[in-house]
Amino acid sequence: MAWDESLNTGIEEIDTQHKQLIEHAENFFEKAGGNLAQSEINGMLVFLESYVLQHFSFEIALQREKSYPDVNAHERLHKYFIDDFNDLKDRIDSEGISREIIDEASKFLINWIIEHISLEDKKYAEHYLKA
Ligand SMILES: [Fe+2]
Ligand SMILES: [Fe+2]
Repeated sequence: MAWDESLNTGIEEIDTQHKQLIEHAENFFEKAGGNLAQSEINGMLVFLESYVLQHFSFEIALQREKSYPDVNAHERLHKYFIDDFNDLKDRIDSEGISREIIDEASKFLINWIIEHISLEDKKYAEHYLKA
């Protein structure tokens, strides 16, 4: 798994969610690269998306709770991710699933998650734990 200790934010619930998020995403890309039917892929995408949305709104609620000054910018970053995720869904809808799409998307989305945690989530977590 792409998770390691350096991604810890210090907020236990958030760290648990991040681990699960990475695990769900990796699990999706691993399975989607196999011989799954389109309907199964779609089901997994819906599941993954709802997990992501839940996590994002949980984070934004924590930030508002402690008046994190960059909450709007953080929310915008989340929105960009959702946009990219929707692009992936559209692409799968129109082109069907392929090795190429999955490899490209998995690298991109997993890297985004890792980078977002290490740069952005850690910033609000620091504020949260201090405030
Ligand atoms: Fe996060
Ligand atoms: Fe975040």
